Amino acid sequence: MRQPLVIANWKMHGKSAFNEALVTDFLAKLMAGRAECVLCPPSVYLGQIAGLLDSSDVMLGAQDCSHIDEGAYTGEVSAEMLRDCGCTWVIVGHSERRQYHQESDALLAAKLAMAQRAGLTPVLCVGETQEQREAGEAEQVVRAQLLGALDDLSDYRHLAIAYEPVWAIGTGLTASPEQAQAMHEFIRDVMRELDARSAESLRLLYGGSVKPGNASELFAQADIDGALVGGASLDAEAFAAIVSAA
Ligand code: G3P
Repeated sequence: MRQPLVIANWKMHGKSAFNEALVTDFLAKLMAGRAECVLCPPSVYLGQIAGLLDSSDVMLGAQDCSHIDEGAYTGEVSAEMLRDCGCTWVIVGHSERRQYHQESDALLAAKLAMAQRAGLTPVLCVGETQEQREAGEAEQVVRAQLLGALDDLSDYRHLAIAYEPVWAIGTGLTASPEQAQAMHEFIRDVMRELDARSAESLRLLYGGSVKPGNASELFAQADIDGALVGGASLDAEAFAAIVSAA
């Protein structure tokens, strides 16, 4: 039985006062439950959030990491630095980074390896666009993203995968539980090809307009082991409700 995992991706949102109120209110509203929970603030706030989470079981993560360990790379943040700030998780290959920063599969493979080398558990994001789904290419696209970034990975145990259909991110258009389950089942089959031993224990998260009103139905699906939550994670009550539903 896979332990549920719910991750908050704050994206580029937050200020010190807002962060303190959000995390304090979220921790006060969070009911004891089965799910593991991770907060991924913008990297400039990792120190603040680490302090706010200090006496809780909620873990700290980052939204990205460099594929380089250190050196003259202005603006980059290394996986080791994230670990040093208290992170244990890192999101890799979010569709917004693939789109706005042209992140290639080779670059993502290097980021995944760097994250694991630093002792972080990476969450690799995959997902198709509306056009690709309408063209019947969704599975082909997701398979290519998985194999492109994971083919050379040495450790499939310290990894999670987030299926985030691009057309459902921030749009309020959530994939139906059936659509999401079908793709999660497909992803698990692809992961069995890569490493049969870890595929059954690998956690597959759904992301794309997860809200308190749809979370339970999504989590009831056999191959949906949790969620990667954007907008709703910026509302303490809504995010506590989603975590409690897992
Ligand atoms: O990484 C999670 C994010 O892409 C989903 O965003 O706002 O649709 O929950 P949202």
